[in-house]
Amino acid sequence: MKARIIYHSFSGNTRSVAEKVCDACEGNLVEVKLTSDYSKLTIYTLGCYRALKGMCDPIEPAIIDVAADDVIVIGTPVWAGKATPAVNAAVAALAGCEGKPAVIFATCGKDGGESLSSLKNALEAKGVKVHDEFVFDKHGTVDPDRINAMVAAITTAGRAP
Ligand SMILES: Cc1cc2nc3c(=O)[nH]c(=O)nc-3n(C[C@H](O)[C@H](O)[C@H](O)COP(=O)(O)O)c2cc1C
Repeated sequence: MKARIIYHSFSGNTRSVAEKVCDACEGNLVEVKLTSDYSKLTIYTLGCYRALKGMCDPIEPAIIDVAADDVIVIGTPVWAGKATPAVNAAVAALAGCEGKPAVIFATCGKDGGESLSSLKNALEAKGVKVHDEFVFDKHGTVDPDRINAMVAAITTAGRAP
């Protein structure tokens, strides 16, 4: 099974989950990076505004071709209850994703808000079928049982007919 794990991370929590899951699945990791990053101030002003509006930020890589993959995993930090503008851009950058299964996850301080429902809608608009979703608060990101549960969901989704 080929799993492509795509994520954005500002302070490392989402990266940590993505890396653990990638190791367990022997997947391929794609870190989506902003071409121009936020500062510790503008992340709360401009970043939250853009997240709330569902906007996309310019990212690298500009195209993420998943045609050769069996399952897509997308992870986002929660900003103002939403997926980050970089993850919105990652969904827009997906190529070869029609009909592919996906598992999505968010890391948050306390509450995942609407981050995964908006991410799921955007993926489904591109023909991706979201099989499962996970929210990790700060305790969840270091809980091996939660990570293992997501790895199991990814394996199941990747083998779905
Ligand atoms: C700009 C900003 C907005 C945030 N908004 C929320 C929020 O609405 N709800 C929440 O539970 N956590 C919120 N957080 C906390 C992050 O979602 C959480 O720390 C997440 O794990 C960060 O992921 P990262 O380390 O991969 O960047 C926010 C953090 C930042 C920087």
